[in-house]
Amino acid sequence: MSDRAERPSKGLDELRDIYADDASTYDRFEFVDRLTIGRYRERLFSRAAGRVRDVACGTGVNFPHLPDDVEVVGVDLSPEMAARARERAAELGLDAEVREGDAADLPFEAGSFDTVVSSLSTCTFPDPVATLREMGRVCSSDGRILLLEHGRSSVGPVARFQDWWAPRHFDKHGCRWNQEPADVVAEAGLVAVEVRRALLGVLTTMVVRPTPSDG
Ligand SMILES: C[S@@+](CC[C@H](N)C(=O)[O-])C[C@H]1O[C@@H](n2cnc3c(N)ncnc32)[C@H](O)[C@@H]1O
Repeated sequence: MSDRAERPSKGLDELRDIYADDASTYDRFEFVDRLTIGRYRERLFSRAAGRVRDVACGTGVNFPHLPDDVEVVGVDLSPEMAARARERAAELGLDAEVREGDAADLPFEAGSFDTVVSSLSTCTFPDPVATLREMGRVCSSDGRILLLEHGRSSVGPVARFQDWWAPRHFDKHGCRWNQEPADVVAEAGLVAVEVRRALLGVLTTMVVRPTPSDG
């Protein structure tokens, strides 16, 4: 699903409503997240350094995986998710600020972050290409964007099931679960310097270099 014209998307208000409902149950299933992708979060996000932006931080599930000495600025569209992220940051004693807003429209200066991290988010962004470009803009030129995303499996029967169920999954969660994250990164004009797949190819971790917006 790399053609933008084929990419369904929900509006920001609808996404806010979905995550207002999900926020109360999201962390109840964190043990599943820990068992399946926890180690990938740890491997990737422990590489963050300096001033870190967590884009679509949700309930702050990445926070425990960041090094202790980073300064974090999280942003999430959902006030309910952001509230839980603030609680989590306080519990961890992390130097963190969490703002509510649209990740495609970040009021930050170009190059003002050393690392930009985001997880399980490009599948939901109404315009993932614009949002990735914005991540590139706020990341310093020698910094890195660390992405952990799910997408279409590399295993045929699993991928076919995802394709079949995709419209229903999208209706309920606003998530394009068979989107190919590496395609979206390329479409945004960013350069992935490391791409790893796991869990039947459903999970992709990427280390991405920011490039100028006209690059
Ligand atoms: C599936 S959750 C992922 C949360 C977290 N990053 C994680 O790994 O669990 C997707 C998150 O993206 C947020 N989101 C969706 N669209 C957004 C946007 N345009 N700007 C900021 N956050 C957005 C939702 O509110 C939700 O918290």
